[in-house]
Amino acid sequence: MKRLSDAASRLEGQPMFQILARAKELERSGKEVLHFELGDPDFNTPSHIVEGAYNALKNGETHYAPSNGILELRLAAAEVTQRSRGFKPELDQILVTPGANVQIYYAVACTANPGDEVIVPDPGFVSYFSILKLLNIGINRVPLHEENGFRIDPSEVEKRITGKTRMIIMNSPSNPTGAVMTEQEVKEMYEIAKRHDLFLLSDEIYARMIFKDANTNHYSPSRYDSCRERTIVVNGFSKSYAMTGWRLGVVTGPSDVISKMGLMLETTTSCVSPFIQRAGINALRNSQSTIDSMISEYRDRRDILVRGLNTLPGVKCNNPGGAFYAFPSVTGTGMSSNEFCEVMLNEAGVSLAPGPIFGDNGEGYVRMCYANSKENIQKAIGKMRDLLENNHKYTLGD
Ligand SMILES: Cc1ncc(COP(=O)(O)O)c(C=O)c1O
Repeated sequence: MKRLSDAASRLEGQPMFQILARAKELERSGKEVLHFELGDPDFNTPSHIVEGAYNALKNGETHYAPSNGILELRLAAAEVTQRSRGFKPELDQILVTPGANVQIYYAVACTANPGDEVIVPDPGFVSYFSILKLLNIGINRVPLHEENGFRIDPSEVEKRITGKTRMIIMNSPSNPTGAVMTEQEVKEMYEIAKRHDLFLLSDEIYARMIFKDANTNHYSPSRYDSCRERTIVVNGFSKSYAMTGWRLGVVTGPSDVISKMGLMLETTTSCVSPFIQRAGINALRNSQSTIDSMISEYRDRRDILVRGLNTLPGVKCNNPGGAFYAFPSVTGTGMSSNEFCEVMLNEAGVSLAPGPIFGDNGEGYVRMCYANSKENIQKAIGKMRDLLENNHKYTLGD
Protein backbone atom coordinates (compact mmCIF):
# COMPACT_ATOMS: atom_id res chain seq x y z
CA MET A 1 0.00 0.00 0.00
CA LYS A 2 1.19 3.52 -0.78
CA ARG A 3 2.12 5.24 2.44
CA LEU A 4 1.00 8.74 1.48
CA SER A 5 -2.19 9.99 -0.14
CA ASP A 6 -2.52 11.11 -3.75
CA ALA A 7 -3.22 14.64 -2.48
CA ALA A 8 0.02 14.57 -0.47
CA SER A 9 1.93 13.67 -3.63
CA ARG A 10 0.54 16.78 -5.32
CA LEU A 11 1.78 19.15 -2.60
CA GLU A 12 4.39 21.67 -3.80
CA GLY A 13 4.50 24.33 -1.08
CA GLN A 14 5.98 27.76 -1.78
CA PRO A 15 9.38 27.59 -3.55
CA MET A 16 10.23 31.03 -2.15
CA PHE A 17 10.70 29.57 1.32
CA GLN A 18 13.08 26.99 -0.14
CA ILE A 19 15.10 29.74 -1.87
CA LEU A 20 15.26 31.67 1.39
CA ALA A 21 16.51 28.55 3.19
CA ARG A 22 19.39 28.23 0.70
CA ALA A 23 20.32 31.90 1.06
CA LYS A 24 20.29 31.54 4.87
CA GLU A 25 22.54 28.48 4.60
CA LEU A 26 25.06 30.52 2.60
CA GLU A 27 24.85 33.25 5.24
CA ARG A 28 25.58 30.73 7.97
CA SER A 29 28.72 29.70 6.08
CA GLY A 30 29.91 33.30 6.45
CA LYS A 31 28.88 34.84 3.11
CA GLU A 32 27.11 38.19 3.02
CA VAL A 33 23.74 37.85 1.25
CA LEU A 34 21.47 40.70 0.17
CA HIS A 35 17.88 39.53 0.24
CA PHE A 36 15.46 40.29 -2.58
CA GLU A 37 13.74 36.91 -2.81
CA LEU A 38 10.88 37.00 -0.33
CA GLY A 39 7.86 39.36 -0.39
CA ASP A 40 8.24 40.37 3.24
CA PRO A 41 8.32 44.06 4.28
CA ASP A 42 11.55 45.04 6.02
CA PHE A 43 9.64 47.49 8.24
CA ASN A 44 8.53 46.38 11.67
CA THR A 45 4.78 46.39 12.35
CA PRO A 46 3.82 49.95 13.47
CA SER A 47 3.80 50.16 17.28
CA HIS A 48 0.13 51.16 17.68
CA ILE A 49 -0.79 47.88 15.98
CA VAL A 50 1.54 45.87 18.21
CA GLU A 51 -0.02 47.55 21.26
CA GLY A 52 -3.47 46.34 20.20
CA ALA A 53 -2.28 42.74 20.57
CA TYR A 54 -0.23 43.46 23.69
CA ASN A 55 -3.13 45.07 25.53
CA ALA A 56 -5.51 42.29 24.47
CA LEU A 57 -3.08 39.68 25.80
CA LYS A 58 -2.82 41.53 29.11
CA ASN A 59 -6.62 41.79 29.26
CA GLY A 60 -7.02 38.04 29.02
CA GLU A 61 -8.08 37.77 25.38
CA THR A 62 -6.35 34.42 25.21
CA HIS A 63 -9.40 32.21 24.59
CA TYR A 64 -11.24 30.98 21.52
CA ALA A 65 -12.81 33.71 19.41
CA PRO A 66 -15.90 33.47 17.16
CA SER A 67 -14.84 31.35 14.19
CA ASN A 68 -15.86 33.94 11.58
CA GLY A 69 -14.00 36.74 13.40
CA ILE A 70 -14.50 39.31 16.16
CA LEU A 71 -17.47 41.55 15.40
CA GLU A 72 -15.47 44.79 15.80
CA LEU A 73 -12.93 43.67 13.20
CA ARG A 74 -15.62 42.68 10.72
CA LEU A 75 -17.37 46.02 11.30
CA ALA A 76 -14.10 47.91 10.78
CA ALA A 77 -13.42 45.92 7.60
CA ALA A 78 -16.92 46.73 6.28
CA GLU A 79 -16.29 50.46 6.85
CA VAL A 80 -12.93 50.30 5.10
CA THR A 81 -14.60 48.58 2.13
CA GLN A 82 -17.21 51.35 2.04
CA ARG A 83 -14.49 54.01 1.91
CA SER A 84 -12.15 52.25 -0.49
CA ARG A 85 -14.52 50.36 -2.79
CA GLY A 86 -17.77 52.26 -2.53
CA PHE A 87 -20.06 49.63 -0.98
CA LYS A 88 -20.67 48.30 2.50
CA PRO A 89 -20.75 44.50 2.65
CA GLU A 90 -23.14 42.75 5.05
CA LEU A 91 -21.40 41.13 8.00
CA ASP A 92 -22.18 37.66 6.64
CA GLN A 93 -20.09 38.53 3.58
CA ILE A 94 -16.94 38.99 5.69
CA LEU A 95 -14.64 36.34 7.15
CA VAL A 96 -11.49 36.85 9.24
CA THR A 97 -8.76 34.34 8.33
CA PRO A 98 -5.18 33.44 9.35
CA GLY A 99 -3.47 35.34 6.49
CA ALA A 100 -4.68 35.71 2.93
CA ASN A 101 -3.12 32.60 1.40
CA VAL A 102 -5.66 30.27 2.96
CA GLN A 103 -8.50 32.40 1.55
CA ILE A 104 -7.50 31.28 -1.93
CA TYR A 105 -7.58 27.64 -0.85
CA TYR A 106 -10.95 27.96 0.93
CA ALA A 107 -12.52 29.94 -1.93
CA VAL A 108 -11.50 27.42 -4.60
CA ALA A 109 -12.33 24.39 -2.44
CA CYS A 110 -15.82 25.78 -1.74
CA THR A 111 -16.67 26.63 -5.36
CA ALA A 112 -14.92 24.13 -7.67
CA ASN A 113 -14.86 20.35 -7.96
CA PRO A 114 -11.92 18.18 -9.05
CA GLY A 115 -11.84 18.26 -12.84
CA ASP A 116 -13.20 21.81 -13.05
CA GLU A 117 -10.93 24.57 -14.34
CA VAL A 118 -9.76 27.94 -13.02
CA ILE A 119 -8.22 30.68 -15.15
CA VAL A 120 -4.95 32.02 -13.71
CA PRO A 121 -2.57 34.80 -14.76
CA ASP A 122 0.86 33.42 -15.68
CA PRO A 123 3.28 34.57 -14.31
CA GLY A 124 1.29 34.71 -11.08
CA PHE A 125 1.45 34.17 -7.33
CA VAL A 126 2.82 30.65 -6.69
CA SER A 127 -0.04 29.58 -4.41
CA TYR A 128 -2.61 29.84 -7.20
CA PHE A 129 -0.86 27.01 -9.00
CA SER A 130 -0.03 24.86 -5.97
CA ILE A 131 -3.53 25.17 -4.46
CA LEU A 132 -5.19 24.21 -7.75
CA LYS A 133 -2.85 21.25 -8.14
CA LEU A 134 -3.56 20.08 -4.61
CA LEU A 135 -7.31 20.28 -5.21
CA ASN A 136 -6.98 18.50 -8.59
CA ILE A 137 -8.49 21.44 -10.44
CA GLY A 138 -7.38 22.25 -13.98
CA ILE A 139 -5.15 25.31 -14.45
CA ASN A 140 -5.96 27.42 -17.47
CA ARG A 141 -3.08 29.87 -17.84
CA VAL A 142 -3.41 33.33 -19.39
CA PRO A 143 0.05 34.47 -20.47
CA LEU A 144 1.03 37.99 -19.42
CA HIS A 145 3.23 39.95 -21.81
CA GLU A 146 5.98 42.44 -21.06
CA GLU A 147 4.85 44.50 -24.10
CA ASN A 148 1.50 44.98 -22.36
CA GLY A 149 3.18 46.00 -19.10
CA PHE A 150 2.33 42.48 -17.81
CA ARG A 151 -1.33 43.52 -17.47
CA ILE A 152 -3.80 40.71 -18.05
CA ASP A 153 -5.68 41.06 -21.34
CA PRO A 154 -9.42 40.41 -20.74
CA SER A 155 -9.93 39.18 -24.32
CA GLU A 156 -7.23 36.53 -23.73
CA VAL A 157 -9.13 35.50 -20.61
CA GLU A 158 -12.44 35.12 -22.43
CA LYS A 159 -10.85 32.98 -25.14
CA ARG A 160 -9.79 30.43 -22.52
CA ILE A 161 -13.20 29.86 -20.96
CA THR A 162 -14.49 26.31 -21.45
CA GLY A 163 -17.55 24.43 -20.20
CA LYS A 164 -15.45 23.37 -17.19
CA THR A 165 -14.35 26.85 -16.08
CA ARG A 166 -15.61 27.83 -12.60
CA MET A 167 -13.49 30.81 -11.64
CA ILE A 168 -11.17 33.53 -12.93
CA ILE A 169 -8.32 34.71 -10.71
CA MET A 170 -7.03 38.26 -11.12
CA ASN A 171 -4.38 40.08 -9.08
CA SER A 172 -3.77 43.82 -9.29
CA PRO A 173 -1.22 45.07 -8.32
CA SER A 174 0.40 41.82 -9.29
CA ASN A 175 2.86 39.50 -7.70
CA PRO A 176 5.39 38.96 -9.31
CA THR A 177 5.24 41.82 -11.84
CA GLY A 178 3.89 44.85 -9.93
CA ALA A 179 1.49 45.54 -12.84
CA VAL A 180 -1.65 47.55 -12.07
CA MET A 181 -4.82 47.01 -14.13
CA THR A 182 -6.77 49.93 -15.59
CA GLU A 183 -10.39 50.69 -14.70
CA GLN A 184 -11.49 49.55 -18.17
CA GLU A 185 -9.67 46.22 -17.88
CA VAL A 186 -11.17 45.54 -14.45
CA LYS A 187 -14.65 46.34 -15.77
CA GLU A 188 -14.15 44.00 -18.72
CA MET A 189 -12.99 41.21 -16.41
CA TYR A 190 -16.16 41.60 -14.37
CA GLU A 191 -18.34 41.62 -17.49
CA ILE A 192 -16.68 38.44 -18.78
CA ALA A 193 -17.22 36.68 -15.43
CA LYS A 194 -20.87 37.79 -15.44
CA ARG A 195 -21.46 36.83 -19.07
CA HIS A 196 -20.21 33.28 -18.40
CA ASP A 197 -21.58 33.08 -14.84
CA LEU A 198 -18.18 32.49 -13.22
CA PHE A 199 -16.70 33.40 -9.86
CA LEU A 200 -14.12 36.18 -10.00
CA LEU A 201 -11.45 35.91 -7.33
CA SER A 202 -9.78 39.31 -7.07
CA ASP A 203 -6.58 39.11 -5.03
CA GLU A 204 -6.21 42.65 -3.69
CA ILE A 205 -3.53 42.12 -1.07
CA TYR A 206 -1.43 44.88 -2.68
CA ALA A 207 -4.35 47.28 -3.30
CA ARG A 208 -2.93 49.91 -0.95
CA MET A 209 0.52 49.68 -2.49
CA ILE A 210 0.00 51.72 -5.63
CA PHE A 211 2.33 54.55 -6.49
CA LYS A 212 0.57 57.78 -7.27
CA ASP A 213 2.96 58.57 -10.10
CA ALA A 214 1.79 55.40 -11.83
CA ASN A 215 -1.11 57.66 -12.78
CA THR A 216 -3.59 55.05 -11.75
CA ASN A 217 -5.73 53.99 -8.84
CA HIS A 218 -6.75 50.65 -7.55
CA TYR A 219 -9.93 49.41 -9.17
CA SER A 220 -11.80 46.47 -7.73
CA PRO A 221 -14.37 44.42 -9.65
CA SER A 222 -16.26 44.14 -6.34
CA ARG A 223 -17.79 47.56 -6.99
CA TYR A 224 -19.97 46.03 -9.74
CA ASP A 225 -21.71 43.38 -7.61
CA SER A 226 -20.78 44.51 -4.07
CA CYS A 227 -19.40 40.97 -3.62
CA ARG A 228 -22.98 39.68 -3.62
CA GLU A 229 -22.96 37.49 -6.74
CA ARG A 230 -19.53 36.38 -7.90
CA THR A 231 -16.65 38.57 -6.73
CA ILE A 232 -14.50 37.26 -3.90
CA VAL A 233 -11.97 39.82 -2.63
CA VAL A 234 -8.84 38.28 -1.12
CA ASN A 235 -7.20 40.71 1.27
CA GLY A 236 -5.07 40.91 4.38
CA PHE A 237 -2.71 42.86 6.58
CA SER A 238 0.56 41.12 5.69
CA LYS A 239 1.96 43.48 3.08
CA SER A 240 0.61 47.00 3.48
CA TYR A 241 0.67 46.92 7.31
CA ALA A 242 3.99 45.02 7.49
CA MET A 243 2.30 42.14 9.35
CA THR A 244 3.42 39.00 7.49
CA GLY A 245 4.20 37.11 10.70
CA TRP A 246 0.88 37.86 12.35
CA ARG A 247 -1.14 35.78 9.89
CA LEU A 248 -4.22 37.95 9.57
CA GLY A 249 -6.55 38.52 6.61
CA VAL A 250 -10.13 39.43 5.80
CA VAL A 251 -11.99 38.01 2.80
CA THR A 252 -15.23 39.43 1.39
CA GLY A 253 -17.56 37.54 -0.91
CA PRO A 254 -21.08 36.26 -1.59
CA SER A 255 -22.67 35.18 1.71
CA ASP A 256 -23.25 31.55 0.62
CA VAL A 257 -19.56 31.15 -0.31
CA ILE A 258 -18.33 32.97 2.81
CA SER A 259 -20.54 30.86 5.03
CA LYS A 260 -18.93 27.66 3.67
CA MET A 261 -15.45 29.15 3.82
CA GLY A 262 -16.19 29.98 7.47
CA LEU A 263 -17.15 26.36 8.15
CA MET A 264 -13.96 25.24 6.47
CA LEU A 265 -11.94 27.53 8.72
CA GLU A 266 -13.87 26.31 11.77
CA THR A 267 -13.23 22.71 10.72
CA THR A 268 -9.50 23.15 10.20
CA THR A 269 -8.23 25.94 12.47
CA SER A 270 -11.21 26.83 14.72
CA CYS A 271 -10.61 30.60 14.72
CA VAL A 272 -8.00 33.35 14.47
CA SER A 273 -6.39 34.29 17.82
CA PRO A 274 -8.38 37.14 19.38
CA PHE A 275 -5.31 39.22 20.30
CA ILE A 276 -4.13 39.06 16.69
CA GLN A 277 -7.53 40.35 15.59
CA ARG A 278 -7.25 43.24 18.10
CA ALA A 279 -4.04 44.27 16.35
CA GLY A 280 -6.01 44.27 13.09
CA ILE A 281 -8.69 46.50 14.58
CA ASN A 282 -6.01 48.99 15.66
CA ALA A 283 -4.52 48.84 12.17
CA LEU A 284 -7.81 49.73 10.49
CA ARG A 285 -9.16 52.21 13.04
CA ASN A 286 -6.09 54.43 13.52
CA SER A 287 -4.19 56.92 11.42
CA GLN A 288 -2.86 55.51 8.18
CA SER A 289 0.11 57.88 8.05
CA THR A 290 2.77 55.25 8.86
CA ILE A 291 1.33 53.08 6.09
CA ASP A 292 1.46 55.98 3.64
CA SER A 293 5.07 56.72 4.51
CA MET A 294 6.07 53.06 4.01
CA ILE A 295 4.44 53.18 0.58
CA SER A 296 6.26 56.34 -0.42
CA GLU A 297 9.53 54.76 0.74
CA TYR A 298 8.79 51.75 -1.49
CA ARG A 299 8.26 54.11 -4.43
CA ASP A 300 11.67 55.74 -3.89
CA ARG A 301 13.29 52.31 -3.71
CA ARG A 302 11.53 51.17 -6.85
CA ASP A 303 12.94 54.16 -8.70
CA ILE A 304 16.49 53.39 -7.56
CA LEU A 305 16.16 49.69 -8.36
CA VAL A 306 14.54 50.04 -11.78
CA ARG A 307 16.98 52.76 -12.85
CA GLY A 308 19.89 50.61 -11.65
CA LEU A 309 18.63 47.43 -13.33
CA ASN A 310 18.33 49.22 -16.65
CA THR A 311 22.03 50.11 -16.51
CA LEU A 312 23.08 46.44 -16.28
CA PRO A 313 24.24 44.75 -19.48
CA GLY A 314 21.61 42.32 -20.78
CA VAL A 315 18.99 43.34 -18.19
CA LYS A 316 15.82 45.28 -18.96
CA CYS A 317 13.12 46.31 -16.52
CA ASN A 318 9.82 48.14 -16.95
CA ASN A 319 8.41 50.44 -14.28
CA PRO A 320 5.92 48.61 -12.04
CA GLY A 321 3.00 50.71 -10.78
CA GLY A 322 2.47 48.91 -7.49
CA ALA A 323 3.24 46.16 -4.93
CA PHE A 324 6.96 45.90 -4.10
CA TYR A 325 8.32 43.80 -6.92
CA ALA A 326 10.38 44.43 -10.03
CA PHE A 327 10.35 41.78 -12.75
CA PRO A 328 13.32 42.41 -15.05
CA SER A 329 14.09 40.44 -18.18
CA VAL A 330 17.53 38.80 -18.09
CA THR A 331 17.46 37.15 -21.53
CA GLY A 332 20.01 39.64 -22.83
CA THR A 333 22.65 38.13 -20.51
CA GLY A 334 22.43 34.82 -22.34
CA MET A 335 21.56 33.06 -19.08
CA SER A 336 18.32 31.33 -18.16
CA SER A 337 16.40 32.69 -15.16
CA ASN A 338 17.70 29.89 -12.95
CA GLU A 339 21.30 30.33 -14.09
CA PHE A 340 21.08 34.07 -13.47
CA CYS A 341 19.73 33.54 -9.94
CA GLU A 342 22.34 30.86 -9.16
CA VAL A 343 25.20 33.06 -10.33
CA MET A 344 23.90 36.12 -8.50
CA LEU A 345 23.46 34.21 -5.25
CA ASN A 346 26.70 32.26 -5.34
CA GLU A 347 29.03 34.87 -6.83
CA ALA A 348 27.48 38.24 -6.00
CA GLY A 349 25.60 37.33 -2.80
CA VAL A 350 22.33 38.71 -4.19
CA SER A 351 19.32 36.47 -3.62
CA LEU A 352 16.54 36.65 -6.23
CA ALA A 353 13.55 34.56 -7.27
CA PRO A 354 13.66 32.94 -10.75
CA GLY A 355 10.67 33.79 -12.98
CA PRO A 356 9.70 30.16 -13.78
CA ILE A 357 8.54 29.53 -10.21
CA PHE A 358 5.70 31.98 -11.03
CA GLY A 359 4.52 29.91 -14.00
CA ASP A 360 5.35 28.68 -17.48
CA ASN A 361 5.67 32.22 -18.82
CA GLY A 362 8.19 33.39 -16.22
CA GLU A 363 11.26 32.08 -18.10
CA GLY A 364 13.63 34.89 -19.02
CA TYR A 365 12.71 36.97 -15.95
CA VAL A 366 13.64 37.21 -12.29
CA ARG A 367 11.68 38.79 -9.44
CA MET A 368 13.24 41.23 -7.02
CA CYS A 369 11.30 42.30 -3.95
CA TYR A 370 12.54 45.75 -2.93
CA ALA A 371 11.64 45.39 0.74
CA ASN A 372 15.23 46.31 1.43
CA SER A 373 17.07 49.55 2.21
CA LYS A 374 18.13 52.00 -0.51
CA GLU A 375 21.75 51.34 0.47
CA ASN A 376 21.34 47.60 -0.01
CA ILE A 377 19.58 48.12 -3.32
CA GLN A 378 22.48 50.25 -4.55
CA LYS A 379 24.98 47.75 -3.21
CA ALA A 380 23.19 44.86 -4.96
CA ILE A 381 23.13 46.74 -8.28
CA GLY A 382 26.85 47.41 -7.90
CA LYS A 383 27.61 43.75 -7.23
CA MET A 384 25.45 42.60 -10.13
CA ARG A 385 27.13 45.11 -12.44
CA ASP A 386 30.62 43.99 -11.39
CA LEU A 387 29.74 40.43 -12.16
CA LEU A 388 28.05 41.10 -15.49
CA GLU A 389 30.62 43.62 -16.76
CA ASN A 390 33.86 42.16 -15.53
CA ASN A 391 33.40 38.46 -15.72
CA HIS A 392 33.94 37.37 -19.28
CA LYS A 393 31.80 34.27 -18.69
CA TYR A 394 28.67 36.37 -18.21
CA THR A 395 28.85 38.82 -21.06
CA LEU A 396 26.41 38.68 -23.87
CA GLY A 397 27.33 36.53 -26.81
CA ASP A 398 30.05 34.53 -25.07
C1 LIG B 1 -0.69 37.95 -4.50
C2 LIG B 1 -0.63 37.40 -3.13
N1 LIG B 1 -1.76 36.94 -2.56
C3 LIG B 1 -1.78 36.43 -1.32
C4 LIG B 1 -0.62 36.36 -0.57
C5 LIG B 1 -0.68 35.73 0.79
O1 LIG B 1 -0.56 36.63 1.84
P1 LIG B 1 -0.52 36.18 3.35
O2 LIG B 1 0.90 36.28 3.80
O3 LIG B 1 -1.39 37.16 4.07
O4 LIG B 1 -1.05 34.80 3.48
C6 LIG B 1 0.59 36.83 -1.10
C7 LIG B 1 1.84 36.72 -0.35
O5 LIG B 1 2.92 36.76 -0.88
C8 LIG B 1 0.57 37.37 -2.42
O6 LIG B 1 1.69 37.83 -2.99
